Amino acid sequence: MSPPQSPITIRSLQTMKQQSQRITMLTAYDFTMARLLDDAGVDVLLVGDSLGMVVQGHTTTIPVTLAQMIYHAELVVRGSHRAMVVVDLPFPHGQLGVRKTLKVAARVLKKTGCQAVKLEGGAEQAETIAALVNAGIPVIAHVGLRPQSVHALGGYRVQRDGERLRRDALAAQSAGAFCVLMECVPRELAKAITDELTVPTIGIGAGPDCDGQVLVTHDLLGLTVGRVPKFVRQTAQLGPAMRQAVADYNQSVRDGSFPNDDESFNV
Ligand code: KIV
Repeated sequence: MSPPQSPITIRSLQTMKQQSQRITMLTAYDFTMARLLDDAGVDVLLVGDSLGMVVQGHTTTIPVTLAQMIYHAELVVRGSHRAMVVVDLPFPHGQLGVRKTLKVAARVLKKTGCQAVKLEGGAEQAETIAALVNAGIPVIAHVGLRPQSVHALGGYRVQRDGERLRRDALAAQSAGAFCVLMECVPRELAKAITDELTVPTIGIGAGPDCDGQVLVTHDLLGLTVGRVPKFVRQTAQLGPAMRQAVADYNQSVRDGSFPNDDESFNV
Protein backbone atom coordinates (compact mmCIF):
# COMPACT_ATOMS: atom_id res chain seq x y z
CA MET A 1 0.00 0.00 0.00
CA SER A 2 1.37 3.46 -0.89
CA PRO A 3 1.94 5.84 2.04
CA PRO A 4 -0.71 8.49 2.82
CA GLN A 5 0.03 11.89 1.26
CA SER A 6 -1.34 14.21 3.96
CA PRO A 7 1.14 15.33 6.64
CA ILE A 8 2.06 12.63 9.12
CA THR A 9 0.63 13.18 12.60
CA ILE A 10 0.59 11.22 15.84
CA ARG A 11 -2.84 10.02 14.84
CA SER A 12 -1.64 8.74 11.46
CA LEU A 13 1.18 6.80 13.13
CA GLN A 14 -1.32 5.28 15.55
CA THR A 15 -3.58 4.31 12.64
CA MET A 16 -0.63 2.77 10.83
CA LYS A 17 0.03 0.54 13.85
CA GLN A 18 -3.63 -0.46 14.03
CA GLN A 19 -3.64 -1.27 10.31
CA SER A 20 -0.29 -3.09 10.47
CA GLN A 21 1.32 -0.62 8.07
CA ARG A 22 5.02 -0.25 8.82
CA ILE A 23 6.37 3.19 9.72
CA THR A 24 9.61 4.42 8.12
CA MET A 25 11.90 6.79 9.99
CA LEU A 26 15.33 8.07 8.94
CA THR A 27 17.68 10.67 10.34
CA ALA A 28 18.07 14.03 8.60
CA TYR A 29 20.32 16.91 9.52
CA ASP A 30 19.89 19.47 6.72
CA PHE A 31 17.47 20.92 4.17
CA THR A 32 18.57 18.96 1.11
CA MET A 33 18.56 15.58 2.82
CA ALA A 34 15.19 16.33 4.45
CA ARG A 35 13.67 17.26 1.08
CA LEU A 36 15.04 14.14 -0.62
CA LEU A 37 13.83 11.82 2.15
CA ASP A 38 10.45 13.52 2.35
CA ASP A 39 10.01 13.28 -1.43
CA ALA A 40 10.88 9.58 -1.18
CA GLY A 41 8.00 9.06 1.26
CA VAL A 42 9.76 8.66 4.62
CA ASP A 43 7.14 9.04 7.37
CA VAL A 44 9.28 10.51 10.16
CA LEU A 45 12.49 12.54 9.94
CA LEU A 46 14.58 12.30 13.07
CA VAL A 47 17.01 15.11 13.74
CA GLY A 48 19.14 12.72 15.75
CA ASP A 49 22.02 13.67 17.97
CA SER A 50 23.83 11.03 15.90
CA LEU A 51 24.78 14.14 13.93
CA GLY A 52 27.55 14.42 16.51
CA MET A 53 29.09 11.30 14.96
CA VAL A 54 28.22 11.40 11.26
CA VAL A 55 28.28 15.18 10.71
CA GLN A 56 30.69 16.42 13.37
CA GLY A 57 33.05 13.43 13.54
CA HIS A 58 32.85 12.77 17.29
CA THR A 59 32.98 9.21 18.61
CA THR A 60 29.81 9.64 20.72
CA THR A 61 26.69 11.82 20.67
CA ILE A 62 27.60 13.44 23.98
CA PRO A 63 29.37 16.61 22.71
CA VAL A 64 26.33 17.81 20.67
CA THR A 65 24.88 21.07 22.02
CA LEU A 66 21.31 22.29 22.22
CA ALA A 67 22.10 25.21 19.89
CA GLN A 68 23.44 22.77 17.29
CA MET A 69 20.33 20.59 17.52
CA ILE A 70 18.10 23.63 17.08
CA TYR A 71 20.13 24.82 14.09
CA HIS A 72 19.94 21.45 12.31
CA ALA A 73 16.26 21.02 13.18
CA GLU A 74 15.44 24.36 11.55
CA LEU A 75 17.10 23.18 8.33
CA VAL A 76 15.20 19.90 8.36
CA VAL A 77 11.82 21.49 9.08
CA ARG A 78 12.39 23.78 6.10
CA GLY A 79 12.96 20.73 3.89
CA SER A 80 9.98 18.64 4.94
CA HIS A 81 6.38 18.76 3.71
CA ARG A 82 4.74 15.49 4.61
CA ALA A 83 7.06 13.84 7.10
CA MET A 84 6.78 14.43 10.84
CA VAL A 85 9.97 16.01 12.20
CA VAL A 86 11.20 14.77 15.59
CA VAL A 87 14.17 16.33 17.37
CA ASP A 88 16.46 14.63 19.89
CA LEU A 89 17.02 16.41 23.18
CA PRO A 90 20.83 16.32 23.39
CA PHE A 91 22.82 15.31 26.45
CA PRO A 92 22.22 16.34 29.20
CA HIS A 93 19.11 18.37 28.39
CA GLY A 94 16.74 15.40 28.41
CA GLN A 95 18.04 14.27 31.79
CA LEU A 96 17.83 17.44 33.85
CA GLY A 97 14.57 16.75 35.64
CA VAL A 98 11.04 17.83 34.90
CA ARG A 99 11.33 21.64 34.98
CA LYS A 100 14.55 22.06 33.02
CA THR A 101 13.71 19.43 30.42
CA LEU A 102 10.26 20.94 29.92
CA LYS A 103 11.81 24.34 29.32
CA VAL A 104 14.29 22.96 26.80
CA ALA A 105 11.70 20.86 24.96
CA ALA A 106 9.37 23.86 24.69
CA ARG A 107 12.22 25.93 23.28
CA VAL A 108 13.01 23.25 20.69
CA LEU A 109 9.38 23.00 19.60
CA LYS A 110 8.93 26.77 19.45
CA LYS A 111 12.19 27.67 17.69
CA THR A 112 12.30 24.86 15.13
CA GLY A 113 8.68 24.16 14.20
CA CYS A 114 9.23 20.42 14.71
CA GLN A 115 6.29 18.22 15.75
CA ALA A 116 7.83 16.21 18.59
CA VAL A 117 10.93 15.57 20.66
CA LYS A 118 12.72 12.35 21.52
CA LEU A 119 14.36 11.74 24.85
CA GLU A 120 16.37 8.82 26.14
CA GLY A 121 14.99 6.76 29.01
CA GLY A 122 11.85 4.97 30.12
CA ALA A 123 10.66 4.42 33.69
CA GLU A 124 13.05 6.97 35.20
CA GLN A 125 11.77 9.55 32.71
CA ALA A 126 8.06 8.93 33.29
CA GLU A 127 7.48 12.11 35.26
CA THR A 128 9.30 14.22 32.69
CA ILE A 129 7.49 12.60 29.77
CA ALA A 130 4.13 13.24 31.47
CA ALA A 131 5.01 16.90 32.08
CA LEU A 132 6.01 17.44 28.45
CA VAL A 133 2.91 15.70 27.14
CA ASN A 134 0.69 17.74 29.50
CA ALA A 135 2.32 20.86 28.12
CA GLY A 136 1.41 19.80 24.57
CA ILE A 137 4.83 18.51 23.56
CA PRO A 138 4.62 15.08 21.89
CA VAL A 139 7.35 12.70 23.06
CA ILE A 140 9.10 9.63 21.69
CA ALA A 141 10.85 7.64 24.43
CA HIS A 142 14.14 5.95 23.46
CA VAL A 143 14.77 2.74 25.41
CA GLY A 144 17.19 -0.17 25.19
CA LEU A 145 20.63 1.07 24.17
CA ARG A 146 20.66 4.75 25.07
CA PRO A 147 23.69 6.26 23.27
CA GLN A 148 23.86 9.24 25.66
CA SER A 149 24.52 6.72 28.46
CA VAL A 150 27.14 4.79 26.48
CA HIS A 151 29.73 5.15 29.24
CA ALA A 152 27.35 4.01 31.97
CA LEU A 153 26.22 1.07 29.81
CA GLY A 154 29.81 -0.01 29.17
CA GLY A 155 29.73 0.53 25.39
CA TYR A 156 27.38 0.10 22.45
CA ARG A 157 25.98 -3.29 23.46
CA VAL A 158 22.80 -5.24 22.83
CA GLN A 159 20.45 -4.67 25.79
CA ARG A 160 19.15 -8.05 26.97
CA ASP A 161 17.40 -7.21 30.23
CA GLY A 162 13.84 -8.04 29.17
CA GLU A 163 12.25 -7.01 32.45
CA ARG A 164 13.85 -3.58 32.33
CA LEU A 165 12.95 -3.07 28.67
CA ARG A 166 9.34 -3.97 29.30
CA ARG A 167 9.16 -1.75 32.37
CA ASP A 168 10.69 1.19 30.47
CA ALA A 169 8.44 0.81 27.44
CA LEU A 170 5.25 0.45 29.50
CA ALA A 171 6.17 3.35 31.77
CA ALA A 172 6.86 5.59 28.77
CA GLN A 173 3.52 4.66 27.22
CA SER A 174 1.64 5.22 30.50
CA ALA A 175 3.32 8.61 30.85
CA GLY A 176 1.95 9.61 27.46
CA ALA A 177 4.76 8.94 24.97
CA PHE A 178 3.14 8.51 21.53
CA CYS A 179 5.87 6.15 20.36
CA VAL A 180 8.64 4.03 21.87
CA LEU A 181 11.95 3.66 20.05
CA MET A 182 13.96 0.54 20.93
CA GLU A 183 17.65 0.35 20.10
CA CYS A 184 19.80 -2.80 20.05
CA VAL A 185 17.30 -5.18 21.59
CA PRO A 186 16.92 -8.91 20.82
CA ARG A 187 14.16 -9.31 18.27
CA GLU A 188 12.04 -11.58 20.49
CA LEU A 189 11.94 -8.98 23.26
CA ALA A 190 11.13 -6.22 20.77
CA LYS A 191 8.28 -8.30 19.36
CA ALA A 192 6.79 -9.04 22.78
CA ILE A 193 6.91 -5.34 23.72
CA THR A 194 5.47 -4.29 20.35
CA ASP A 195 2.59 -6.74 20.82
CA GLU A 196 1.92 -5.46 24.33
CA LEU A 197 2.07 -1.72 23.64
CA THR A 198 -0.83 0.18 22.11
CA VAL A 199 1.48 2.94 20.84
CA PRO A 200 3.77 2.25 17.88
CA THR A 201 7.31 0.98 18.39
CA ILE A 202 10.19 1.93 16.13
CA GLY A 203 13.22 -0.35 16.09
CA ILE A 204 16.89 0.12 15.32
CA GLY A 205 18.73 -3.14 15.72
CA ALA A 206 15.54 -4.53 17.25
CA GLY A 207 14.46 -7.02 14.60
CA PRO A 208 11.63 -7.07 12.07
CA ASP A 209 8.57 -7.09 14.34
CA CYS A 210 8.52 -3.47 15.51
CA ASP A 211 5.82 -1.22 14.06
CA GLY A 212 8.49 0.73 12.20
CA GLN A 213 12.21 0.98 11.58
CA VAL A 214 14.76 3.78 11.84
CA LEU A 215 18.33 3.98 10.59
CA VAL A 216 20.97 6.66 10.45
CA THR A 217 20.69 7.81 6.83
CA HIS A 218 24.47 7.96 6.37
CA ASP A 219 24.60 4.25 7.28
CA LEU A 220 21.73 3.34 4.94
CA LEU A 221 23.19 5.18 1.97
CA GLY A 222 26.79 4.08 2.37
CA LEU A 223 28.05 7.52 3.41
CA THR A 224 29.38 6.55 6.83
CA VAL A 225 33.11 6.91 7.38
CA GLY A 226 34.22 3.84 9.35
CA ARG A 227 32.36 0.91 10.79
CA VAL A 228 28.66 0.33 10.12
CA PRO A 229 26.65 -1.63 12.74
CA LYS A 230 25.51 -5.21 12.03
CA PHE A 231 21.84 -4.24 11.98
CA VAL A 232 22.21 -1.79 9.07
CA ARG A 233 21.10 -2.63 5.56
CA GLN A 234 22.87 -0.48 2.98
CA THR A 235 20.65 0.24 -0.03
CA ALA A 236 23.27 2.38 -1.78
CA GLN A 237 26.99 3.13 -1.76
CA LEU A 238 26.93 6.88 -2.15
CA GLY A 239 30.34 7.34 -0.49
CA PRO A 240 32.27 5.53 -3.25
CA ALA A 241 29.99 7.14 -5.87
CA MET A 242 30.84 10.61 -4.49
CA ARG A 243 34.56 9.84 -4.44
CA GLN A 244 34.40 8.77 -8.09
CA ALA A 245 32.31 11.79 -9.11
CA VAL A 246 34.77 14.16 -7.44
CA ALA A 247 37.75 12.34 -8.97
CA ASP A 248 36.09 12.85 -12.40
CA TYR A 249 35.71 16.57 -11.65
CA ASN A 250 39.33 16.86 -10.53
CA GLN A 251 40.43 15.16 -13.73
CA SER A 252 38.32 17.43 -15.96
CA VAL A 253 39.65 20.58 -14.25
CA ARG A 254 43.23 19.38 -14.42
CA ASP A 255 43.08 18.33 -18.08
CA GLY A 256 41.29 21.55 -19.09
CA SER A 257 38.11 19.81 -20.40
CA PHE A 258 35.95 21.60 -17.80
CA PRO A 259 34.40 24.06 -18.41
CA ASN A 260 33.67 23.63 -22.12
CA ASP A 261 32.00 26.23 -24.34
CA ASP A 262 28.44 25.22 -23.26
CA GLU A 263 29.47 25.72 -19.65
CA SER A 264 30.89 29.19 -20.38
CA PHE A 265 29.32 32.60 -21.12
CA ASN A 266 29.96 34.37 -24.41
CA VAL A 267 30.12 38.11 -25.08
O1 KIV B 1 20.45 10.05 17.20
C1 KIV B 1 19.93 9.21 16.46
O2 KIV B 1 20.10 9.20 15.23
C2 KIV B 1 19.09 8.18 17.06
C3 KIV B 1 18.81 6.98 16.23
C4 KIV B 1 20.00 6.12 16.24
C5 KIV B 1 17.60 6.30 16.67
O3 KIV B 1 18.72 8.30 18.18
